[in-house]
Amino acid sequence: MSVPSRRLVPLAVLTLFTGFAVAIVTAPEPASASGTLRSHAAARGKFIGYAAATGPLANETAYRNIAGSEFNQVTAENAMKWDATEPQDNQYNFTGADQVVAFAQANNQRVHGHTLVWHSQTPGWVQGLSGTAMRTAMQDHISRVVGRWANDPIVESWDVVNEVFNEDGSLRQSFWLNAMGQSYIADAFRFARAADPDARLCINDYNVEGINAKSTAMYNLVQQLRAQNVPVDCVGFQAHLAVQFGFPGQYTQNIARFAALGVQVRITELDVRIPLPADQAEITRQNQYYTQIVDGCMQSTACAGVTIWGFTDRYSWVPDTFQGEGQALIYDTNYSPKPAYTAVHDALDDGDPGGDTQPPTTPTGLTASGVTSNSVNLSWTASTDNVGVTGYDIIRNGTVTNTVAGTSTTVTGLSPSTAYQFAVRARDAAGNTSANSATVNVTTQPGSGGGGCSATGTVQTQWGNGYVVQPVTVTNTGTSAITGWTVTLTLPSGHSLTGQWNATISPTSGAVTARNMSYNGNLGPGQSTTFGFQVSRPNGNTAVPSGYTCTAS
Ligand code: XIL
Repeated sequence: MSVPSRRLVPLAVLTLFTGFAVAIVTAPEPASASGTLRSHAAARGKFIGYAAATGPLANETAYRNIAGSEFNQVTAENAMKWDATEPQDNQYNFTGADQVVAFAQANNQRVHGHTLVWHSQTPGWVQGLSGTAMRTAMQDHISRVVGRWANDPIVESWDVVNEVFNEDGSLRQSFWLNAMGQSYIADAFRFARAADPDARLCINDYNVEGINAKSTAMYNLVQQLRAQNVPVDCVGFQAHLAVQFGFPGQYTQNIARFAALGVQVRITELDVRIPLPADQAEITRQNQYYTQIVDGCMQSTACAGVTIWGFTDRYSWVPDTFQGEGQALIYDTNYSPKPAYTAVHDALDDGDPGGDTQPPTTPTGLTASGVTSNSVNLSWTASTDNVGVTGYDIIRNGTVTNTVAGTSTTVTGLSPSTAYQFAVRARDAAGNTSANSATVNVTTQPGSGGGGCSATGTVQTQWGNGYVVQPVTVTNTGTSAITGWTVTLTLPSGHSLTGQWNATISPTSGAVTARNMSYNGNLGPGQSTTFGFQVSRPNGNTAVPSGYTCTAS
């Protein structure tokens, strides 16, 4: 999309009748008022994100264009919440969540998962459970939902618990607290870590942007949990602000004290609502709030970035929730950028090398060497760039597979006797990419035989009448690449498969066969992949599956 044109009013000289020259000067605009929000954020190592609504993301071109071009991070506004992902016990639905992740993937954005344990938008069947059953349901839910993207690096973080405090800093009397006591918070974080050891795990809340009783309670809890080795990696300040209230007091000091605890800080749900109709003073105040929030995050190395809770006033939760208030976002209902857009843009920009739109030069001299049955070495000549090359994308058969820092790499995991075409392109700090280099064609050596594989399954969690096996690790134990695998195993009598991920498994009882998906069948020698599944069993039965056998193809 195009950025609003910023009129640069030249020094106008007005000659009055008196003959004196009076200079009328309008403040000059910042030098680089162009470039997308994400280009500026990326240049400073930060993210700028939006909350995605699945309806317009599927249906509206204007929405998709802005979402894909202006932001480098996304949070699903509703699609990853419990009522969307597990409306009935053990019946999971990832339609909306997958849609958001696919869009992010296609647009080179990272995803923040929102949210696992919250008193709102959690189905009645959960709320009615006893303490023990609720803990099991929570564990189950977290393993399945977090586990779904455990091997997908773009889903990098999760709000594990959301809004657990009252304004006075006491714990909210939610059904979670009432059924399980305070330990539910630590448990939720531990379950999430078990489901994805690489994900950053956050505690998120509103009215915690400044220093006050609530943010101090959050600070104390995070400190306490970390002292107990509970995996809390980040705190989220929602930042649902309103112009009729003062800007949060001691906002930057608040970021700093959390930074000193060693946690990442994120602004997770920024919007600034206005009582309607809005007057100019309120709009000015809104712009100031946007500037201050974004600026505070940019100034702290602990703050990873800012997510705006939507981007267009056409789809904002504000009018539905706060009667008589609205216009809280940075684009109007017709997708035109508002002054608040400029406020965010300029706070991200701040005179840094962002706004750079010049791509690096195209890499030359791409050469392949050391071709084996499953690997090849690639090397090329460095590109140059005005703000600096940050890496090179490796392109295999037209698709970017990974990014490397240097000017050579060894590509592994190839199949024997197979033709590949490689190219590389350079990236710079602002996210610009060069054209693709000339291609090089490679045909791998025939396999030397001996393709084999092994499979081992780990029971991750179990409860009275069920369990989750995660991961089942499949390893290529042979000396050449394999293009597919089949794992057989036996479910004990009376056990029945209720869910699976990263493999297709059938039938649902007895001797079952798991086959690779399209994306995880190719394994080079020594490489591994994982899949998982969930099983229900008769109450009290403690048996688990056995006889894992792997066959390579
Ligand atoms: C809101 C969504 O924006 C609405 O569409 C939905 O109806 C209710 O939830 N704090 C949060 C968010 O953590 O999940 C909420 O999102 C806004 C407040």
